[in-house]
Amino acid sequence: MSSFYEDNPDLKIAVFAGKGGLGKTTCSAALAMWLSKKKQRVLCFSTDPQASLSDIFEKDVFGKGSVTLDKNLYVMEIDADKRIAAFQEEVRQKIRDMYGIDELPKEIDEYINAAGAEPAMHESATYDAMAGLLASDEYNFHVFDMPPFGHGIRIVSMARILDVWVEKMEETRKKAQEYGESAWKMQQRTSGAGQDEMLAELLEIRKKLSFFQDILTDNKRTAFYMVITPEKMSILDTERALKMFEQMDITLTGVIINQVYPKELLQRKDLGDFLRKRIEMQQKYMNEIKDKLGKHVCAVIPMFDREPKGLEMIQQVADIMMNWDGKITEE
Ligand SMILES: Nc1ncnc2c1ncn2[C@@H]1O[C@H](COP(=O)(O)OP(=O)(O)OP(=O)(O)O)[C@@H](O)[C@H]1O
Ligand SMILES: [Mg+2]
Repeated sequence: MSSFYEDNPDLKIAVFAGKGGLGKTTCSAALAMWLSKKKQRVLCFSTDPQASLSDIFEKDVFGKGSVTLDKNLYVMEIDADKRIAAFQEEVRQKIRDMYGIDELPKEIDEYINAAGAEPAMHESATYDAMAGLLASDEYNFHVFDMPPFGHGIRIVSMARILDVWVEKMEETRKKAQEYGESAWKMQQRTSGAGQDEMLAELLEIRKKLSFFQDILTDNKRTAFYMVITPEKMSILDTERALKMFEQMDITLTGVIINQVYPKELLQRKDLGDFLRKRIEMQQKYMNEIKDKLGKHVCAVIPMFDREPKGLEMIQQVADIMMNWDGKITEE
């Protein structure tokens, strides 16, 4: 993996996708750390409500904006729910200003609340934050640690997802307008200017969105990884994801096999039956991965005897991940 970064200096983003709990956050943290030693200003970004970056880096960074962890290493774990709430309040305020009213009509208020509860809003808030970060150009490199939904690659069809947000804003605007034309007509002061402002904002969101999409589908600027383990479901899942990648015109940069028990353990006389069986099972799937996904594999990470946490251990994961010897199974 390290030579890939040396050969592609224009890379700006790495995205880690894959099923839940296999090692996306661990690998994201490891890559961010490794890159921070090579580049300036590397951001590791996540939207996990479980604050797993906080957990891995052993520092509470959830909802605190960009936190400096080490030289050139920044972490951000956004609180999507808080962002949605702020956005809702913004919409409320715009409507109040637009119609010169102090209190929103109950129906509109309820409508805004309901819109905020939709899962698509959560994703939109995430992607909007990511697009905003990219557009701001504050960091030289961004590692996006994705939540497990839809392989995390739904991010590329985010045009549609973010459009939901835009639509909601437009709908809300229309609703407010209807009210303005009836009950609040008399109080309506600056509807023209207010509406222009809203529209400008919508267009700004769309602009950010298409910029984001361009960058994500450009394999000179974005690297996409899948993190898997040597298990049946994981292999099936990756095969499905590969098809999806193809449909979306995305090049998979690499597959990382994580949590692999060292095969050498099999030589040990004191190895219990339970562990022996697990290692043999993993080896069977390692062979299957070699046949089916071999050309995509870019790293193999062993199962550690404890959870990789803290800068020192993440550095250890990074060294292994970035400098893999190219062997999926021993010949
Ligand atoms: N190679 C490894 N050896 C031992 N433990 C590991 C290894 N990789 C990851 N883990 C542990 O497995 C758990 C899941 O890892 P991680 O949080 O990185 O997965 P994830 O894909 O981000 O999960 P989620 O989908 O829930 O976000 C964590 O407790 C992590 O410390
Ligand atoms: Mg995670």
